[in-house]
Amino acid sequence: MKEKLILGVDVGGTGMKAGVVDVVSGALQTERKRILTPQPPTPKNIAKGLKQLVEIHNWHGPIGCGFPAIVKDGVAYTATNIDKSWIGVNIEELFSEATGCPVKVTNDADAAGYAIMLYGVGQQLKGVNIVLTLGTGIGSGLFINQTLIPNSELGHLFFKGDIAEHYCSNAVRKKEKLSWKEWGGRLNEFLHHIDRIFSPNNIILGGGVSKKFDKYEAYLNPRAKVFPTPLRNAAGTIGAAYYASLF
Ligand code: BGC
Repeated sequence: MKEKLILGVDVGGTGMKAGVVDVVSGALQTERKRILTPQPPTPKNIAKGLKQLVEIHNWHGPIGCGFPAIVKDGVAYTATNIDKSWIGVNIEELFSEATGCPVKVTNDADAAGYAIMLYGVGQQLKGVNIVLTLGTGIGSGLFINQTLIPNSELGHLFFKGDIAEHYCSNAVRKKEKLSWKEWGGRLNEFLHHIDRIFSPNNIILGGGVSKKFDKYEAYLNPRAKVFPTPLRNAAGTIGAAYYASLF
């Protein structure tokens, strides 16, 4: 899509956010508006939520959307923190119909990764770089230099008898009322596991809890350099818009 302004949307397990993005500079042009993810998070309900966000922004142009599932050619292949009925749905068709706007959809963590790696300081990062989004689940964006290997799903690596996101997502920290030290310790174990598999140069943390990095930074010591995203929680929205600009 050749437009300079694209509405970026981030669909999460808990909230849905949208803001207008200048895809040349990567800057948000409006405030990001947030609504709670409609429950149950079925295709019909989330499409309604998207329509609401589009109306709030009075938007009629192209839309890029980050979605919390494996997404290939606009189709959802998994559904972990959303309704199971998403599997097999062509999200792009559904959302384009619901909004009357052209919509492109990618995995939410891949979207966050695009924003981090292609705008600002991320443009300088070389080698293997991994973006981890710590939220309801754990999403990942795996990059070689600035090239994405899509749908890496590292939060679903088998780890400690279950999948990793059931051990150290931010939702688990809240649910199990873990201290920063306890949760930081768990996250550190997972980062070491990723270190062993990929030997990344950098691991960049995203999601709301990346803003509180100073609270758990002291407990993280993998070989890779670890730091929080400079884009704070806006990376998913910005990167979703960037993704749509590729078409
Ligand atoms: C999903 C991923 C998603 C991540 C973050 C995981 O449960 O499998 O596709 O990127 O949550 O939302």
